[in-house]
Amino acid sequence: MTLLWKWLVLLSINGCLAAYAEDALFHGPRWKTEPSDLILPIHSPKQEAVLACEASGIPLPQYRWSLNGTLIDLDGDERRHVSGGNLIINTLDRDQDAGVYQCSASNARGIILSHRATVQFAYLENFKTQQRSAVNVREGQGVVLLCGTPMHSGELTFAWVFNEYPNFVQQDSRLFVSQETGNLYIAKVVLSDVGNYTCVVNNSITKDKVLSSPTPLVLRNDGAMGEYEPKIEVHFPDTVPAAKGSSVKLECFALGNPVPKISWRRTNDVPFPSKVKLSNSNAILEIPRFQQEDTGTYECVAENSRGKNAAKGRLSFHAKPHWLQTMTATALSIEENLFGSAKPMGSPNPLTTG
Ligand SMILES: *[C@@H]1O[C@H](CO)[C@@H](O)[C@H](O)[C@H]1NC(C)=O
Ligand SMILES: *[C@@H]1O[C@H](CO)[C@@H](O)[C@H](O)[C@H]1NC(C)=O
Ligand SMILES: *[C@@H]1O[C@H](CO)[C@@H](O)[C@H](O)[C@H]1NC(C)=O
Repeated sequence: MTLLWKWLVLLSINGCLAAYAEDALFHGPRWKTEPSDLILPIHSPKQEAVLACEASGIPLPQYRWSLNGTLIDLDGDERRHVSGGNLIINTLDRDQDAGVYQCSASNARGIILSHRATVQFAYLENFKTQQRSAVNVREGQGVVLLCGTPMHSGELTFAWVFNEYPNFVQQDSRLFVSQETGNLYIAKVVLSDVGNYTCVVNNSITKDKVLSSPTPLVLRNDGAMGEYEPKIEVHFPDTVPAAKGSSVKLECFALGNPVPKISWRRTNDVPFPSKVKLSNSNAILEIPRFQQEDTGTYECVAENSRGKNAAKGRLSFHAKPHWLQTMTATALSIEENLFGSAKPMGSPNPLTTG
């Protein structure tokens, strides 16, 4: 079957050559719509998936689809059919339908092959049920509580519950939940932080929600921690590839006593365009509709009365966006929401627990 697919590509070359000799009114197929990647919720077999494919051409093009390089035989297929050029799949099945799809459009003048589109199924497993050990901290110290995200596919959002569900940790300049790692960062522990912390993970595609076992935070009784300069605990990678038109999010958060203030700048102090948004007490910088002129080095600075530290990285530009479609309106594209990753560094060592 793979051979047949390759043979069709060869045909296209011959088809194009032949086209020169004939009536100029006729032309080979040209893409109008090519299929996009899909992430589908796993628990919704009743939903249908549509892989789009449309080409212009005279005579009208005929369409064929391949899955993992093998032509799909639609004769007698009860779950799949082609409408226009679109491939429509009913009664979705993880084993039969996940893979790489490609569409071909052909007429007497030639054949063209589309982009490859990946179909994946989103899922979110449960947390391990084992008990989490207590974290002992001094008042004034910084601490990182690890979420320990279970196996998953599809975009996740994170929140933390303090003591009783649904009493969520409210983020401010002292508390930060990374949407990249799910970890909870407390810049400077205060007395009222003592209690149990539960990580809540949400899959935006499947709508599944899972809760970790609680991590107790307890205070050590051997004195408070003195003041110290900011230690950047969450920061974006050295190089962040960003697709044209996408929304880029950079995370930056520091532990410190007093609680550090976060600010951002670009190298050469190029001002930020007005579209740039800061949120979560400046811990998140968002650049919507990323363009060529937004490339460059971005720096986040964490400062308190004891000193300051900076972290920087380069945003690079990719002209070709690779859109990811999802079947639910609320689901977001992975590349539309590019987060920096956390990278622990520096001393005094923050306590880290899982
Ligand atoms: C297609 O290939 C992928 C990756 O190798 C594999 O996971 C998937 O199961 C394959 N799909 C089918 C329908 O065989
Ligand atoms: C934390 O959880 C433990 C065990 O469930 C419980 O004994 C303790 O009272 C809780 N602590 C707080 C502050 O709620
Ligand atoms: C889960 O995600 C949905 C939307 O994706 C949001 O409305 C909801 O508040 C989230 N829940 C938690 C606990 O994060």
